Amino acid sequence: MPRAESTVLLVGTGVVGRAFLDIVTGNERTSRPDTSAITSARRVPVRVFRIANSRGNATLDDLPELLARSPHEPPVAIDDALLDALAAKKNAVLVDATASADVTPLYVRARARGIHVVTANKKPIAGPFDGYRTLFPRLREAGEHDEPRGKLRYSATVGAGLPIIDTLQKLVSAGDAVHRIDCVLSGTLGFVSNELARGTPFSRAVAIAKERGYTEPDPREDLSGNDVARKLVILARELGAELSLSDVAVEPFVDAHAPLDARLDAELAARVARHEKRGEKLVYLARIDVRKGGVVASAGPVGVAREHAAATLSGTSALAAFYTARNDALPLVVSGSGAGGPVTASALLADIAGLVV
Ligand SMILES: NC(=O)c1ccc[n+]([C@@H]2O[C@H](COP(=O)([O-])OP(=O)(O)OC[C@H]3O[C@@H](n4cnc5c(N)ncnc54)[C@H](OP(=O)(O)O)[C@@H]3O)[C@@H](O)[C@H]2O)c1
Repeated sequence: MPRAESTVLLVGTGVVGRAFLDIVTGNERTSRPDTSAITSARRVPVRVFRIANSRGNATLDDLPELLARSPHEPPVAIDDALLDALAAKKNAVLVDATASADVTPLYVRARARGIHVVTANKKPIAGPFDGYRTLFPRLREAGEHDEPRGKLRYSATVGAGLPIIDTLQKLVSAGDAVHRIDCVLSGTLGFVSNELARGTPFSRAVAIAKERGYTEPDPREDLSGNDVARKLVILARELGAELSLSDVAVEPFVDAHAPLDARLDAELAARVARHEKRGEKLVYLARIDVRKGGVVASAGPVGVAREHAAATLSGTSALAAFYTARNDALPLVVSGSGAGGPVTASALLADIAGLVV
């Protein structure tokens, strides 16, 4: 039987938004195109209702005209008439592929109309706890608010296409006690660590990462560790912890004010050599520790033993190793490509597939 169709309002036409459109319009560029009728018959059909960015919104046919407009500050709002028109469709979904911190009210307006929200945007899920509470009514006092009709899914916010949130949710719902999660959650910082281990000078490793489009426009954003900290907040909240960004102990990869020059290159090369002597690799490790007193989240550059799962990564891969009561001797490890448009768009589509009826 053919799968039910979903109707999507896509917000964001950057790396992720465009990869999403490439897939749903059949213009995906993969090394091995899908020739299997089985996969295409089982794929969830997506009808693109409208596409929005900071400049306004358009149909798929009018997208080139929308992209030709100048970026708008503040972004053009998505009005009630547009949401009402979307809500009239079956399996209506708002897909957020922006990095905006101001989308919580939009999610609330959409879900009140029965529109599902699927997001790659960490900011509303990792934002201040009050805003988070408005998105997850089960956390609020009983009877305080009506349950929104539209559901919210956010698998793509941690590890892009990797099933990190899904795995954590499964462990928790099966009653397994999570003791610790060790993660490498930044493609940029993972790449830089791997290059350092190969002897590449730090400033060169950062420059290559920037050239290849792995970093934020300003690589210091990645080096600060704040993006990783947001992902830890999302994971900690899955464990029921009322954690916020300011609760995460973040040590940046390098001092935010230090110039990325030869002095820093020498400092980091010496640090890598010290760890190597001890049989360790320098990695940017993000950790959740579940203790008697609560959940503790931290991120920073540390040496890990060569046998540790985080020491075995290459390129821009990401990882989450779950140490639980039932996965004690050997952690449950999820690892693979943790960044990029196609894998992130794939996670958005998988979330949509789980919502359509
Ligand atoms: N890239 C990855 O590998 C990856 C992986 C996992 C998760 N993510 C997350 O996915 C999201 C998108 O990432 P990206 O790399 O695609 O970002 P991007 O290339 O910077 O694109 C962001 C898009 O969002 C639009 N936008 C921003 N604020 C808006 C607003 N308030 N209303 C409407 N549109 C708005 C921008 O509009 P204009 O074009 O008009 O400026 C732009 O089209 C981010 O939250 C990111 O953290 C990315």
